[in-house]
Order: sequence, then C-alpha cells, then structure tokens
Amino acid sequence: MKSKKRIVIANWKMEVTTILDAQLIVRSTEGLIERIGDVEVIVCPSFVHIVPVMNASNGTIKIGAQNSSEMPRGAYTGESSPVALADAGISHVILGHSEVRAKGETDELVNAKIRALLRMGLTPIVCIGEKDRSTSAYEEDLKEQATKVFKSFSLDELARMIIAYEPIWAIGAHAKRECEPSECRDAIEIITKTITTMHSRDASMFLTYVYGGSVHPENTQLYLDVPGISGVLVGHASIDFKKFVEIIKITSQEVR
Ligand code: PGA
Repeated sequence: MKSKKRIVIANWKMEVTTILDAQLIVRSTEGLIERIGDVEVIVCPSFVHIVPVMNASNGTIKIGAQNSSEMPRGAYTGESSPVALADAGISHVILGHSEVRAKGETDELVNAKIRALLRMGLTPIVCIGEKDRSTSAYEEDLKEQATKVFKSFSLDELARMIIAYEPIWAIGAHAKRECEPSECRDAIEIITKTITTMHSRDASMFLTYVYGGSVHPENTQLYLDVPGISGVLVGHASIDFKKFVEIIKITSQEVR
C-alpha cells in the first residue's frame, strides 16, 4: 500500500532567484546521484522556475510545487491551478506549509487543496506540525490539525499522500533547536492515532511520513531511524547541492 521507496524532498522556498542557479542546482545534483535508484527525489522550486528546471533535468529528479489552489480554474489572481500544474508535468505539491499558513491558510483550506490535487492524480505533501513544544498543548495542536486536514479522506486516499511532520519551532537556519528523534516519533504516533480513531481501523500501514525541520547531513540518519519515517523534507540545506546530495546518499538504502 505504502511506497517502499525512501523519499527526499527539497523545498527551495524563495531562496533561489535566478533560472541559471535553479538549473545549476538540479543538474549538479542529478550528476552526482545518477546511480541511486532506491530514493525518490522531489525538488520543489518556486513556480517561475518549475518549467526551466524541468527542461534542465534529465528526469532523475521529480519536480514539485510549493503550493496550489483548491480551485481548478477561474478568476483567482495569483493562484496556481492543480490542473495547470498537472499539465506542466508536476508530480507532487507541498501543502499546508507553516510559512503559507502564517499568511492565513486554514486547516479547512488545506483539506480542500488536498482534494483538488488528488482529483488530478497529483501527490500532496501535507505539512503538519505544532507551533510549540514547551507544554503538553502540542498534543492537542497536532490532533486538531490532523483531524481537520485529513477530514473525510478514505484510507486509500491517505495512502496517496505524503505527510511531512514539520515542528514549526524547528524550521529554518535560525531555529532555536533541532527536533529530537524521540519527539518526531511521538508526533507521528499522535497523528497516526488520530487518523486511526477517525477510521476505527489501524491507519499506520496506509500512511507515509517524512520529517522536515533543520534537516542536514549530520542529522539525517537520526530521523531515518525513527520507526515510520520514510524520508526527509529539506529546506535551507537543499540549496547547497553538495549537502543535498549527501542527504540523498545517506537516505539511499544502497549505502546504508
Ligand atoms: P528547513 O526548512 O530545512 O530550512 O528547516 C524545512 C521546511 O520548512 O520545509
């Protein structure tokens, strides 16, 4: 049911500002990972770089987007249609990232966006994560997000998504501290339990999780060792292609 492959996702955010740099990062990365077949690598550039990056890629890397609309088409200035993304050859879309939610995106909207993507046969990478870990309130935060974001999806639909556990406090080059593997394990157990309760059936075999938040070559293995984690979502370290390739190699089962 779940993808057996390991997964590495790059979220470039708005860090790459020229087409040349975007193409260079993808070409350089592909040049170094040619023989790694057991890892699915998905790079998510900003919208304007999607097509140039596809043109530069030899197809080893899949290209994703960082957001999409819940509507298929229409008068929605500044939005990107999942229909247009599918037409452009996109395979995956990051949804519900905390940096998008910070501008007002709600759990309900993330839910609608997931539905629109599934309709197009695209894979949503759904971000879930608590704002704060210093009190026990994080459990409620995670439960509430999971309940609303995954509302009314069947287990088969859930099996077509990737869930990115991204504790908001651990995101970014200036995060206060890194997430402990035990905290990651605990969070994905809470999310899995919440979904299991919604379906009155063990959901674990249907769910694919990646960890995101200050992932770099030195801590990648720690997160991969967390039971239930299939890969990593990498932000700032993915812009440095040498670090990114290192993370891909660590994730590759061939070298483990
Ligand atoms: P980071 O970002 O690796 O820079 O912490 C991860 C993310 O926000 O997706």
